[in-house]
Amino acid sequence: MIEGGARLDGAVKICGAKNSVLPVMAAALLAEQPLRVPNAPQLHDVGTMAVLLRELGASVERYADGGVEICAEGPLSDKAPWETVRKMRASICVLGPLLARLGRADVSLPGGCVFGVRPIDVHLKGFEALGAKVRVEHGFIVAEAPKGGLRGAEVFLGTAFGSSVTGTANVLMAAVLARGRTVIHYAACEPEVEDLCRCLVAMGAKIEGIGSPMLVIDGVERLGGATHAVIPDRIEAGTYLSAGAMTGGRVRVTDMRPVHLSAYLDRMREAGLPFECGPDWVETQPQQESSGAHGFPPRPRPTDVTTQTYPGFPTDLQAQWMTQMCFADGVSVINEVIYPDRYMHVAELARLGAQVRRQGTTAIVQGKASLSGAKVMASDLRASAALVLAGLAAQGKTEVYRVYHIDRGYEKIEQRLIALGAKITRAKE
Ligand code: EPZ
Repeated sequence: MIEGGARLDGAVKICGAKNSVLPVMAAALLAEQPLRVPNAPQLHDVGTMAVLLRELGASVERYADGGVEICAEGPLSDKAPWETVRKMRASICVLGPLLARLGRADVSLPGGCVFGVRPIDVHLKGFEALGAKVRVEHGFIVAEAPKGGLRGAEVFLGTAFGSSVTGTANVLMAAVLARGRTVIHYAACEPEVEDLCRCLVAMGAKIEGIGSPMLVIDGVERLGGATHAVIPDRIEAGTYLSAGAMTGGRVRVTDMRPVHLSAYLDRMREAGLPFECGPDWVETQPQQESSGAHGFPPRPRPTDVTTQTYPGFPTDLQAQWMTQMCFADGVSVINEVIYPDRYMHVAELARLGAQVRRQGTTAIVQGKASLSGAKVMASDLRASAALVLAGLAAQGKTEVYRVYHIDRGYEKIEQRLIALGAKITRAKE
C-alpha cells in the first residue's frame, strides 16, 4: 500500500544482478568443485534456482550475507522437473551445462509468461550445431550429445528480435566443454552475458571476444571451482533512479556501474531530469517546484524510447519509463521491439488515470499533471515495480496486489523505499 506525494531522498545500495546470478548458478553444474557467489541477491528467483540445482543433485548453501555456494560434485540427475521449471523461465539455463557435463539433458519446456510466448528455438539450434540430438516430447526438451561428446561448431544465434540473452548463455555453457572451437555469431552483449563469460573463465574456460557479438570458445576437458562476484543489477538501479526522478528528490544509487545504464541515462537527459554521475553511483537531483498542479510530481519533458538489445534501452526498464512519461508535459512514443506484448502495465496505469494508447508494438503516452491512486494488479516482475513507482507519484493511496511478482527481482523493496522516505507498507493480501 503506497501513499503518494513524498519526495524520496537518500542512498540505496544496488544488489547483485538477478539476470547474472541465475545463469552463473547454473554454470556450477559444469564443475565438480564449488562455485561461490559472495554477493548473490536475496531474491525469490535465487531460491527457485537453488531448489532446482538441489533436485539435480548439487549441494547449495545460502549464507546470511547473501552469499551462495554450489557444489555439483555428482552424481547428477539429468532431469529438470516441470514443477520447478514452470516457476521460473531462467531454469532453462541448466540445459546447456547438463548436456555438456552428462551428455544428456531432460528439461521441462519453460512456460511462457504474461508478456508473450518466449520461444527457445536458438537455444536448441545451438545445441544441435554442437552435435546434440534434440527432441521435444511430453513437454520436455530431451537433448543428447553424440558418443564422443559435443563438438565445437560455428553457429548464428540471432533471432527475429536480435540476440538472445539466455540463448547465448545456454549455448556458451555447452560449448566450454565441447571438443574443439566454437564460434557464436550474434551473441548477446548484455553485461550479464559478459559476467557469465568471466565466471566461466575463472572456472578454467577459454573464451575470446567477451562482451562482443562474436564469442570464440575453445573447449577444455573440465572446469574447476571459482569464486565470482556478480555485477550490480542495472535494472534495479534504473528502477530506483526512476523513483527519485519521479518524486523530484535526491536519490543516490550506489555500488553500481553507470556505463550499464548509458541508454537510460541518455533518455533521462533528454527528458530534462537532472542527475549527477560518479564512478559507481548516480544521483537524481532535486527538482524545483514543478509546474505540476500541486507542485508535485515534477513533470519531465516527453521523451520517446525504443527498446533494443544492449547497449540500447533495456526492455526491462520500459514499464518504468512509461510510468515516468505518464507525468510528462506532452506526448511520448514507446516502441517495445524486444517483447511486443510487454504492455500488461498499460491497463493498470489506466486505472490510475494514465492516458496510454497501444498501436501494435507502440504505446502512445499522453502525459498528465497528476494520476490518482487506485487498486492495481501486478503482472510481471518489471511492470509490477512500475506500478509501485506510479503509486509513489500519484495523488492519494495506491494498492498493488500480487506483489510476489516484485519479490522475484527486487530485494526488500518496501524497506528500501521506506528508507528513502516513501510511505509504503506491505499487508497480507
Ligand atoms: C532475458 O530473457 C532476461 N531474463 C529478461 O529479463 C530480459 O527481459 C530479456 O533477456 C531481454 O533482455 C534472464 O536473463 C533470466 P531473450 P531471455 O532470449 O533470455 C526472442 C526480467 O524481468 N527469442 O534475450 O528469455 C524472444 O522472444 C526478465 O528479469 C527468440 O525468438 O530473453 C524475445 O523477443 C524478463 N528465440 C527476444 O528474442 C529464442 O530462442 C529476446 O529474448 C530466444 C529468444
